[in-house]
Amino acid sequence: MQSAALQKCIEPKCGLEYPIFDIRIECDRGHLLDIKYKNIPSTLLKDAFYKRRNHANNIFNESGVWRFRELLNFCQIDTENFEECSKYLVSLDGSEGRLSKPYHMSKVSDYVGLKNLWLQPEGYNPSGSFKDNGMSTAVTHAKLVKIKKIICASTGNTSASAAMYAANENIECDVYIPSGEVAPGKLGQAFQFGAQVIEIKGNFDDALSASLLKANEVGGYTVNSVNPFRIEGQKTIMFRALEHLDWNPPDWIVYPGGALGNTSSCGKSLMELYEWGWIKKIPRIAVVNSEGANTLYTLYNGKFEDTKLRWNKGKPDVEIIKKYYTYMDKNGIRPKTKATAIQIAKPANILKGLRALEFTNGVVTQVSDQEMMDGMALVGLNGFDCEMASGAVPAGVKKLIAEEIIKKDDIVVGILTGRQKDASIPVDYHKNSQNKFANPPRT
Ligand code: F0G
Repeated sequence: MQSAALQKCIEPKCGLEYPIFDIRIECDRGHLLDIKYKNIPSTLLKDAFYKRRNHANNIFNESGVWRFRELLNFCQIDTENFEECSKYLVSLDGSEGRLSKPYHMSKVSDYVGLKNLWLQPEGYNPSGSFKDNGMSTAVTHAKLVKIKKIICASTGNTSASAAMYAANENIECDVYIPSGEVAPGKLGQAFQFGAQVIEIKGNFDDALSASLLKANEVGGYTVNSVNPFRIEGQKTIMFRALEHLDWNPPDWIVYPGGALGNTSSCGKSLMELYEWGWIKKIPRIAVVNSEGANTLYTLYNGKFEDTKLRWNKGKPDVEIIKKYYTYMDKNGIRPKTKATAIQIAKPANILKGLRALEFTNGVVTQVSDQEMMDGMALVGLNGFDCEMASGAVPAGVKKLIAEEIIKKDDIVVGILTGRQKDASIPVDYHKNSQNKFANPPRT
């Protein structure tokens, strides 16, 4: 296997490089890593990717991740050779990314006041969230470096996905979760797929610190989005959206923001596609935070010490981030939202997220729990299913339109990140006739 890919520190002034086979989530100076490719993939592949949808029983063509394998070929495999692919690539029988593509949802469009709104339900992945896109690639790398056990912290979806892929590949999986803060459907999946659940007293940030510490102690393999191979798989969310639009980028791409893995992977996919000449226009990213867990919103928009935090061409003001985290710790400010998936105060990928926002001239907004629930309910009225954190997307789009940041004739792609895994949220919502889209029962 030759190496035309490597791991490289994201900070331009550092730029340390490591082989693909190294197991690490940061460079020796503590910065996040990117996977870098030496060869430029030909745009002729656009046709090949499309044709693979008629997959002829090849699960790597059927998979909405591995269909795009030449754009994330960190294994440097012979991409047309089925035997080669099956030796290296991890797939849940071709199911990751297979059903997710942009759809028009007329009731959401009418509500937010936007004709050209596409919503991509990443909940239609095998474990029920976008995480499977990145888990198939992270576990591929784990297998490549002969790992027998993976480890993660999670608000629920990462652990469900990690546990599912680990079970399917017959490797062990430890998941660190904030006790009492994970939707029952997600927790049930981790148990059901045979993972070892470790409950942490605290929030997701505490669980992540504990799991990273453990991984460091025992040389464990972390599959959180700080793993650069996770980010590679999640680029395919954007590839599927762009393919559906004939590789003509929309004006906006909208994500809920938590640990900012998605924002990072979206940014990386756009940076690469632009550099490789696959796209001529750069869409703008809009990240939607929950009001109760709004670190990125606060720092990006200068709501803390009047400093607008930016990537600043690779020279971000990391001191302001540290200062804000200390301020939160000192004042007992804890993230609090019913959308537990994004109940995160210290987004581990904040620097990559900032880089993505700078490259795309992005914006960050925030919405309330009520707005997210309304968004979630409305997606349901179109016959699609999403969880409350994903409801941040319609809610955020509506807000940005009202602020005239998104214009009414803009083309917008919103990513609905996960399926409903806490039935009590829609049940309580619909039973309360005060809610905007309530559908209360009759007795
Ligand atoms: N939406 C859902 C449904 C999620 O589960 C998450 C993150 C996000 C959005 C935020 O995405 O971190 O890429 O900004 N869930 C993680 C987990 C943290 O552990 O399942 P992000």
